[in-house]
Amino acid sequence: ADPDSLQDFCVADLNASISINGFPCIPASKVNASDFFFDLSKEGVTNTSNLNSSVTPANVLAFPAVNTLGISMNRVDYGPGGLNPPHSHPRATEMGLVVEGSILVGFVTTSNVYYSKVLTPGEVFVIPRGLVHFQKNVGNGKGIVFTSFNSQMPGVVISSTTLFGSQPPMPNEVLTQAFQVDDAVVNSIKSKFGS
Ligand code: GLV
Ligand code: MN
Repeated sequence: ADPDSLQDFCVADLNASISINGFPCIPASKVNASDFFFDLSKEGVTNTSNLNSSVTPANVLAFPAVNTLGISMNRVDYGPGGLNPPHSHPRATEMGLVVEGSILVGFVTTSNVYYSKVLTPGEVFVIPRGLVHFQKNVGNGKGIVFTSFNSQMPGVVISSTTLFGSQPPMPNEVLTQAFQVDDAVVNSIKSKFGS
């Protein structure tokens, strides 16, 4: 989904003082072999929240070599029952490979149709660009999924934190009317997302 490249590569200069769409390149003379390799072998720490999951990105900020190449990955780790909560990527379609666990993958279309399946190692899924989706490890052990994106920076909009954890907070009169609940319910959810 990203624009086409005009050169073989453009390893991002993340500290450049100019601001463009993406990042300027570091000089080719300063590019090393190591720039093109990135380690996603480490298990993320999953037990720091009730979600019991962890996303390790290999997007342009973590892996500057993908700058201008229209591609990136994540490693997602799940404890037993771990959830990567409903979210969407405004700039990319996502494709994922289950490496460990039994992973319930679901997404909802713009017609509000829910599609889902439980996947086991070796199976892959695709999430069309922009649609809200999640993965939940429904197995008893750990789960591991590697995801890939047709953007160097797919962006992530997490449904819960977008609505209930923004700074400054979205007004209660909007949320109570939208969800047809009273202030107490909205305040209770907001309190869990720091808004
Ligand atoms: C999974 O949905 C991911 O965004 O890596
Ligand atoms: Mn995703």
